[in-house]
Amino acid sequence: MQNIVSEIEQLKKEKNAIILAHYYVDDEVQKVADFVGDSYYLSKKALEAKEEVIVFCGVNFMGESAKILNPTKTVIMPDDLADCPMAHMVYLDKIDEVRKQYEDLAVVCYINSTAEVKAASDICVTSSNAVKIVKALKEKNIYFIPDENLGRYVASQVPEKNFIFNDGFCHVHTSITAENVLKAKEQVKDALVLVHPECKQEVVDLADYVGSTLGILNYATASDAKNFIICTEMGISYELKKNNPDKNFYSVGHRQFCPNMKRITLEKVRDCMSNLNNQVELDEELRLKANKALERMVEVAK
Ligand code: 13P
Ligand code: SF4
Repeated sequence: MQNIVSEIEQLKKEKNAIILAHYYVDDEVQKVADFVGDSYYLSKKALEAKEEVIVFCGVNFMGESAKILNPTKTVIMPDDLADCPMAHMVYLDKIDEVRKQYEDLAVVCYINSTAEVKAASDICVTSSNAVKIVKALKEKNIYFIPDENLGRYVASQVPEKNFIFNDGFCHVHTSITAENVLKAKEQVKDALVLVHPECKQEVVDLADYVGSTLGILNYATASDAKNFIICTEMGISYELKKNNPDKNFYSVGHRQFCPNMKRITLEKVRDCMSNLNNQVELDEELRLKANKALERMVEVAK
């Protein structure tokens, strides 16, 4: 393994590359990354990148967002089949239909969406800035796509708006049930429950804290508590343990892993860097439209 790590380090210099990784990829991939973070942090890092090549260790919508925000860079994906199913869970026709029904409407899309969906939306959000952004919008009606659970969580925090939901979901987060969490709490009675807002309402209702992956990390690190039940993908435990060696982190079941994020391996990182293959390509008209929603997010979230 040390050999591959040295090859990747060498390729970083040769190709003038930066490696960005999400918390859900395997530990060894997180270790070679220049920056590891949640979707919002990584999109800002992609936008600011000065290097020629951005290697995105995550799923397709993340690499696509990097290319939309910073189009002169070569963006490569270690595995172009690493795709988030939820990113596709909304019909473009339905967006047009809802637009016709409401005059005072903002179409708000979660960053876990395709470039086509972003292009059809008014603004993008991530789990770390969705509440702040929706609160700041002037429109009364919010069509929140594609994730219903995140949409419902945001609606609970912004009761002054009228929400229209879409039935997209993340299979990893919806596999966590209230029963799982209660069982875990029985085992570790003093544990705090930290929940990603892609989880179902019944799980959010049991949370001591709800937030993005970075939010969960920051909360656990700042807390005086010792035990935490983690309701998100367990790749995050690498950084949780690294920052908090004296604390304990418990999962609630065996399905808390994202098979698409786990497609990224060190070998694939090295190979895509040496051949510069799996480049993200986007039609310029589509990119410009999708960029409006992403740029607006960065602006409003400041
Ligand atoms: P974060 O932005 O919280 O990292 O979430 C990304 C994601 O895909 C959650 O499933
Ligand atoms: Fe998509 Fe869920 Fe995987 Fe996140 S954890 S990338 S939302 S499938």
